[in-house]
Amino acid sequence: MTFMLHEVVTLTPADQPNWRRLRLEALESYPAAFLTTAGEQRARPASVDRAALSGGNWRGLYHEREMIGIGALIPMQQEACAHRMQIGAFYVVEAHWGSGAAQVFLDALITEARKRGAGQLELSVAADNPRAIRFYERNGFERYGTQPRAVILDGVAQDDFFYVRMLDR
Ligand SMILES: CC(C)(COP(=O)(O)OP(=O)(O)OC[C@H]1O[C@@H](n2cnc3c(N)ncnc32)[C@H](O)[C@@H]1OP(=O)(O)O)[C@@H](O)C(=O)NCCC(=O)NCCS
Repeated sequence: MTFMLHEVVTLTPADQPNWRRLRLEALESYPAAFLTTAGEQRARPASVDRAALSGGNWRGLYHEREMIGIGALIPMQQEACAHRMQIGAFYVVEAHWGSGAAQVFLDALITEARKRGAGQLELSVAADNPRAIRFYERNGFERYGTQPRAVILDGVAQDDFFYVRMLDR
């Protein structure tokens, strides 16, 4: 049997145990990179996870047969915003940083967004997350604004930067 080194798949409720493991790892290891806290996720019953995974927005990055990344590709629902999609909760396990795995994952989301007719991809990133900022800027995302005090964690406020990448020009 053959399989690709990296594969990006749409997650379903059946993926909940693996998804939850990676999601908690992301939130515990890099709390400043996400809006949700690990505590919130821990308190969430599996049924809520499964409902989220039934929406078709979550993608998983596999290396051989192991899930090594998760992320969401979220189309905006309003008719007038049908050209916009958002990337959220993007995470690759640290052992695979710098390997090109995150690039494969992002490329897959960009390709899918284009195929589905999106004209632009949007995301936000913590202002003090230089690695992610470099990764997105290397991939043509342009900063268009700042959300002051996007989160307050342990009493410390942190800004987020908004990014957009045009797909149709
Ligand atoms: C963000 C993430 C997906 C990127 O994947 P990755 O494999 O680490 O990315 P890459 O190695 O391809 O690119 C990282 C870039 O940042 C650079 N970099 C690393 N540390 C840096 C720092 N402190 N300052 C500036 N640039 C830095 C790297 O040199 C590389 O740039 P280069 O290609 O020009 O050399 C991954 O690091 C991750 O999951 N991080 C934790 C969760 C997170 O922050 N998610 C984003 C939420 S918006």
